[in-house]
Amino acid sequence: MVDRPRRPRQRAQHEPDPPGTAPRRAALRLVDAILRRGDPLDVAMHAAAQGLTGADRAFAVAIASETLRWMVDIDALIDSATAQILPDDVKSRAVLRIALAQLLVLKSPAHAVVATALPLVAGGPRRLVHAILSRAQQDEWQLPERATLPLATAERWAEQWGLATVEAAEAAWSAPPPIDLSFAAEPGAEEWPEATVLAPRHRRLPRGQAVEAMPGYREGGWWIQDLAASLPARLLGTGEGRTVLDLCAAPGGKTMQLAAAGWRVTAVDSSAKRLERLGANMARTGLAADIVQADVRTWTPAAAADAVLLDAPCSATGIFRRHPDVLHRIEPRQIDEMAALQCKLLGRAAQGVKPGGTLIYATCSLERAEGEEQIEAFLAHHPAWRVDPVRNDELPDAIAPDTNGFVRTLPGLLSDAGGLDGFFVARLRAPAG
Ligand SMILES: C[S@@+](CC[C@H](N)C(=O)[O-])C[C@H]1O[C@@H](n2cnc3c(N)ncnc32)[C@H](O)[C@@H]1O
Repeated sequence: MVDRPRRPRQRAQHEPDPPGTAPRRAALRLVDAILRRGDPLDVAMHAAAQGLTGADRAFAVAIASETLRWMVDIDALIDSATAQILPDDVKSRAVLRIALAQLLVLKSPAHAVVATALPLVAGGPRRLVHAILSRAQQDEWQLPERATLPLATAERWAEQWGLATVEAAEAAWSAPPPIDLSFAAEPGAEEWPEATVLAPRHRRLPRGQAVEAMPGYREGGWWIQDLAASLPARLLGTGEGRTVLDLCAAPGGKTMQLAAAGWRVTAVDSSAKRLERLGANMARTGLAADIVQADVRTWTPAAAADAVLLDAPCSATGIFRRHPDVLHRIEPRQIDEMAALQCKLLGRAAQGVKPGGTLIYATCSLERAEGEEQIEAFLAHHPAWRVDPVRNDELPDAIAPDTNGFVRTLPGLLSDAGGLDGFFVARLRAPAG
């Protein structure tokens, strides 16, 4: 238990915050918006980081991300130090979480962590925060090697994929992933000497680089895209002038791949804001697509296409390494809601495929309800459609199709080389007509 708390120095009522408090205050607001309101981190950031400089904003996001990534383990440390368990939603726990993430994960100087934590909490709780942070330093608190998953996620994934996958997910979750680049054309062998090559038109770089400062950003020959996210478009091969509907397309990672592979692309998305980013991406890379803002549930294409790629909105539990907020926000109810939406989108997507054409269905989810079960249900209602099984030779080494011919990337894949996001991809063939 905490030793008799030493009294932190009393601050005068209108004393200004110590330097560096603003990004910590923003991080506190970010974590609160995610845990209490279920806002995604990037949405919460707009409100929480108002008025911050770019560097402070990045620091606030780093604190919030590491707090969420290590929250189960940080909470265990806090609970080991209090006589009574602090309720989950009190300010002192919230401040301790972000302070301990700085101290134990980001390795911020202890004096700065303590000085900027205290103004965030008032009265008796301030003494408690001070005492626990002192104890953390005195006892040299450490986090475990692997960040523990939230219990509900661990149980759900253990049931779906087994305990080994849960352990692999914890290992994958413990550090932000590397940066994967997709290229419009294969870069020269002498370019990107520090990169690992896991597939054609792909390079993997160590994390921590400022994307816009990387060589060739302005020229637009590459874009950021996890290797797993590049698989759906790879499975369509080269377009040779054929038509493809890229449904739920923004911000356009797959649109760029398809356009670069010679497809005539119509990119459809319901979000005007995300389509702006798609437009900017196409402009930067000099690639072309017709862009349509529409709800895929009601939109009808002018003509059926040779191929349709549906990258459906989903729980996004597969991208938990990059977005550690996801596993704290997503509950079974939202997975069910997403699955119902995916079912509708898949039905509409199929109507846009020419007889004998190809339909790719993809989600960045680690939930069977958003992957395998969607395809089972679709085939039950569309008995003339067939699975077009993915072949081994179409995939990067170390990734293999499952026994149904689907691609299911699970945590643990490529773990020696920086891992992979969780994705599901199925390729279906329309009846010949
Ligand atoms: C997984 S993201 C797409 C990522 C994109 N394919 C890429 O590779 O960059 C899902 C997209 O679906 C869009 N969306 C969600 N519901 C939709 C609907 N009913 N109709 C059209 N787009 C929708 C969202 O705006 C979001 O941009």
